[in-house]
Amino acid sequence: MAGKSLMYKILEDHLMEGELKAGTDIGIKIDQTLTQDALGTMAYLEFEALGVEKVKTLSVSYVDHNTLQDGFENADDHKYLQDVASKYGIYYSKAGNGICHQVHVERFARPGQTLVGSDSHTPTSGSLGMFAMGVGGMDVAASMAGHAFHLICPRVINIKLTGSLPAWCAAKDVVLKVLSILTTKGNVGTALEYTGEGIASLTVPERATITNMGAEMGVTTSIFPSDERTREFLKAQQREDMWLPLAPDADAVYDDVIEINLDELEPLVACPHSPDNVKTVAEMNEIPVDQVLVGSCTNSSYRDLMVVAAMLKGRKIHPNVSFGVAPGSRQVLEMISKNGALADIISSGARILESTCGFCVGCGQAPRSKSISLRTNNRNYEGRSGTKDAQVHLVSAETAVASALTGKFTDPRTLDFEKPNITLPEVYDIDDSMIVKPAMDAQQEILRGPNIGNPPSNEAMPEVVEAKVAIKVGDKITTDHIMPAGPYLKFRSNVPKYSQYTFCHVKPDFADTCKANVAKGQFNIIVAHESYGQGSSREHAALCPMYLGVKAVMAKSIERIHMDNLVNFGILPLFFTEDADYEALECGDELTIDMNDVAFTSGEFIVKNVTQGTSFSMKTPLNDRQKEIVRAGGKLNFLRAGGK
Ligand code: F3S
Repeated sequence: MAGKSLMYKILEDHLMEGELKAGTDIGIKIDQTLTQDALGTMAYLEFEALGVEKVKTLSVSYVDHNTLQDGFENADDHKYLQDVASKYGIYYSKAGNGICHQVHVERFARPGQTLVGSDSHTPTSGSLGMFAMGVGGMDVAASMAGHAFHLICPRVINIKLTGSLPAWCAAKDVVLKVLSILTTKGNVGTALEYTGEGIASLTVPERATITNMGAEMGVTTSIFPSDERTREFLKAQQREDMWLPLAPDADAVYDDVIEINLDELEPLVACPHSPDNVKTVAEMNEIPVDQVLVGSCTNSSYRDLMVVAAMLKGRKIHPNVSFGVAPGSRQVLEMISKNGALADIISSGARILESTCGFCVGCGQAPRSKSISLRTNNRNYEGRSGTKDAQVHLVSAETAVASALTGKFTDPRTLDFEKPNITLPEVYDIDDSMIVKPAMDAQQEILRGPNIGNPPSNEAMPEVVEAKVAIKVGDKITTDHIMPAGPYLKFRSNVPKYSQYTFCHVKPDFADTCKANVAKGQFNIIVAHESYGQGSSREHAALCPMYLGVKAVMAKSIERIHMDNLVNFGILPLFFTEDADYEALECGDELTIDMNDVAFTSGEFIVKNVTQGTSFSMKTPLNDRQKEIVRAGGKLNFLRAGGK
């Protein structure tokens, strides 16, 4: 019998339903969950609605997204999150303790276990040999309640790393290289497993940078084996007892193999406005830069900031550059303050930002208009920085600092000093006092400020949907396009208010149009092309459209997490069979779709275009279980009615 990948070994250990075969629906047991504050409130409101007494998983609620208080809304949310955590048995990581994925890798991630998180970069914990997936809040809620988590068993691509990283090349360059090969499109249902002799030289924080950006490719998850590097890291975090060796079988069979020779890597940069628009830094040489930011869950570990400090020691940031550093966790910040590295960073002229997502999620540090910003985070979608015409480029910490020193794109290999040699500490500073342990107090009162609403309810899918095309968009519409973050994110727990901003940068009258259609007894349809819903696991990108009466998304393809979120909120994903059908549709067209048994059984839906007097057929990619959830009007209705 053929050998197994590590991914399939872990899935096999956790299998509750189905057969381990790529493309089939499987249900697995979940060991751990995580949430962050931007999506957490809704996940916990949904969990409460399920009526379960205690969580059945090791669960952590992080506050890292909206920590810059403006108005009472965020503070209301954080208090709600802390009360819910205390009552239901969830760890609560306070604002300032760090970014969820950085802290999870440091303190909770465990080889061989499964993790789902309501954040698309949850696969970061795959750096420790964990099967970790980003999902919608509703799926986190169901997992916390002990339900099997359903996913499409992925096909596994083996990324085989040979050689070792040359001087001035970093883990970020490895993952940008993979992005240049696999791109951000067409990887739904695929997972990445890293092997090869090249991985031995990569520490856990470097592996975390790589698994983190699998999210940009849209893959299910990424994983590294659990080996001596993993043991060293866990030991340094005083968690060696959680280590176990894990590797694929020597004769493991993969669906595809991509070999990358690390010896041949060069410093790379993802150019605007997509993480797969990769060039070499050398190609960008001499272009002036205005802003440089180091941080985010991709590149803010102790290792990264020690590189930054060593490069900056005794040097000054270029006068034309605004340079900011956001340490990934309080552990990192505390350690670099104690060992003097922070002083080197400050002396160089850097601004020290909070240990949170901050600039990465568009909370602060919006660059000036038409400027060039170099950042170490993972996404450079248009407008995500808060400045629509800014040119955001993604680079390693090494390239970021080299460019901040010179004021222009600089390949760090051209610097007139040696690359610093950073070794990780044998023991990290451990202080979990900002992670509040659950009181498990059933009597705990939960304070719900005016910003905390109820999860909106939905009706079962009607037999016939009469609707209007409320918006028609093109390729690569991200969840940021659908539900912008930045200043709007504080309304996340208040769906009626937040939904008013749906597509506000794409079609400002979208919400009003939807409401007007609903008032006339019609539902709404979203029409899109390739890779609709790429980006984050922001379930509001499905929840708010549901609130506005959207019943179907018609597209050429839809990204995995977003598709799951559409299902969870009772919105039917439909795929065009002919491109001409997409071309012909116009915004405002009146459609009729039969949603009867025949259509759901066959998966083929007839769409009548009343306005144009035409009709065409579309297919849904959903399996039987997902179809049932959509027909019930979403997962909450489905689970409450006894669905599994
Ligand atoms: Fe936060 Fe940005 Fe990561 S928003 S979780 S730092 S992708």
